[in-house]
Amino acid sequence: MQSFENMFDIKGRIALVTGGASGIGAMITEALVDAGCKVTIASRKYHALEHFADEMNAKGPGSAHPVAADLSTAEGTEALAAHMQANEDHLDILINNSGATWGDSLDNFPRKAWDKIMNLNVTAMADLTRLLLPMLEARATAENPSRVINVGSVMGTRPMADAGGGNGVYSYVASKAAVHHLTKTYSNELAHRHITVNAIAPGPFPSRMMAYATDSAEKREVLGKTVPLGRVGEPEDMACVIRWFCSKGGSYITGNIIAIDGGAAAAP
Ligand SMILES: NC(=O)c1ccc[n+]([C@@H]2O[C@H](COP(=O)([O-])OP(=O)(O)OC[C@H]3O[C@@H](n4cnc5c(N)ncnc54)[C@H](OP(=O)(O)O)[C@@H]3O)[C@@H](O)[C@H]2O)c1
Repeated sequence: MQSFENMFDIKGRIALVTGGASGIGAMITEALVDAGCKVTIASRKYHALEHFADEMNAKGPGSAHPVAADLSTAEGTEALAAHMQANEDHLDILINNSGATWGDSLDNFPRKAWDKIMNLNVTAMADLTRLLLPMLEARATAENPSRVINVGSVMGTRPMADAGGGNGVYSYVASKAAVHHLTKTYSNELAHRHITVNAIAPGPFPSRMMAYATDSAEKREVLGKTVPLGRVGEPEDMACVIRWFCSKGGSYITGNIIAIDGGAAAAP
């Protein structure tokens, strides 16, 4: 058996993290850069990406590379795939993390909240994965498959839609259930091409999307009390799972939805 140090070594791997400069995406980028990966981070706000990449590059030992991408359009996903093809000869790790939410009462929930959220959270994720398949296949082997990790949610696992203040996130929960289902479907399709496809299903982690419930220590404490383990998620909770998934440790795992949620999905 290899040593544990070797089994978790992912130095030099080429990765793409969508939404990689904020919230959960930033936690994932930091974990990969810390492990020595070369990470492209892509989303709409270039200055935020550039600022975060500078911070990551100052720490190393890996590197972060910003690229502006609006994944809500076909042109946006195509441009990002073209950027990757122009700059790398293969891709080891694709993290489909970009996402959005929309809260309103059930009686007022607008049609456009379905179009916008399903489009980014599901269609863009599926389309970007499809476009990057040749790069994911380029160096993948049975011993070291390429990894696709989709960011789902505990809200895609349990029938919960309450976002507080009388707002429900109906299209969001449906989109995350779709992410989980598509993850399993793609894992079957792509196993023989040496690509694993898994999802993480986070519980509450501090982020821009969750700012309404996590932007102060008091709010985080209140939210943490709703979680069986009694706290919200921390960057290390995310980093350890991602490092494991991307290493030798994750090479025989595909089609799984891994809850990183302090027990929320299993709560009665
Ligand atoms: N935080 C939680 O508690 C939690 C729990 C479960 C699941 N999640 C999931 O985690 C993922 C990250 O969310 P977060 O909570 O970390 O919130 P966040 O900080 O708001 O991150 C959302 C990311 O998506 C990017 N994005 C939004 N629209 C985009 C577009 N049209 N094209 C490309 N990128 C776009 C944003 O970057 P730009 O604004 O620069 O485009 C941002 O980096 C989401 O899929 C979310 O559903 C979060």
